[in-house]
Amino acid sequence: MPANILFLRKTLIALTGLFLCVFLVVHLSANAILLLPNDLASELYNSYSHTLRENPLITVVAYVLYLSIIIHAVVALLITIQNKKAKPTKYVMNKSQQNSSWYSRNMGVLGTLILIFIIVHLANFWARIKLGIGEDVNIDANGYKDVFSVTYELFQNIWFVLFYSILSIPLAFHLYHGLKSGFKTLGFYHKKGLRILARISLVYALVMGIGFGIIPIIVYITVHLKQTE
Ligand code: HEM
Repeated sequence: MPANILFLRKTLIALTGLFLCVFLVVHLSANAILLLPNDLASELYNSYSHTLRENPLITVVAYVLYLSIIIHAVVALLITIQNKKAKPTKYVMNKSQQNSSWYSRNMGVLGTLILIFIIVHLANFWARIKLGIGEDVNIDANGYKDVFSVTYELFQNIWFVLFYSILSIPLAFHLYHGLKSGFKTLGFYHKKGLRILARISLVYALVMGIGFGIIPIIVYITVHLKQTE
């Protein structure tokens, strides 16, 4: 493949990936509201969610988000297919196994798991809340859609709790390697700078992985403890 096309594809992956990383920070901060005392959490979560849905500027950002997910996944798939075609046959000595980590060699697999997660997740929330598909969403005392209850109900199902929590592990590995390589693609070559960025990527990936993984577990345990009181 011509080098300039490969560079363009990698830049697209890096830029859309960085944008998705910023979205995840905002999304995790919003979901952390779920861990506050229930009355406060439900009011804040529902009004936050309402404000996002009704704001025209955020609606535009949401479309950029959907487009970024699609571009990121499709271009990454094209690069993975291209890499597979270009790989030396197994008869040729290949030291890639020793020189790279398993997660950097399996970004395609990790990305596919995350894509499956996003599809199930959008069906759980976005389709029901934004598109009105499936069971009606209740309205709270302030007249907003009760997104808090939708979330709490979903995380009463242990299979969904496991699904969300287990898939936050590939998410963390994908974010760690993705962020590190994204910085390199965008021109951060300086060795010392790269070491700092690698640490930032590690902290970021841990916070995202643990944060998204633990919220469903805490919600599940909180409700079950209350029921046994
Ligand atoms: C504890 C875990 C999570 C919870 C409780 C959660 C909750 C939600 C909720 C309630 C919505 C709908 C918001 C609304 O329309 O009002 C939503 C949308 C969304 N979530 Fe999550 N989420 C979680 C994790 C994730 C993760 C890990 C990702 C990505 C890897 C993600 C990606 C998205 C996307 C792309 C949307 C659509 C955003 C939009 O339309 O503006 N979520 N999430």
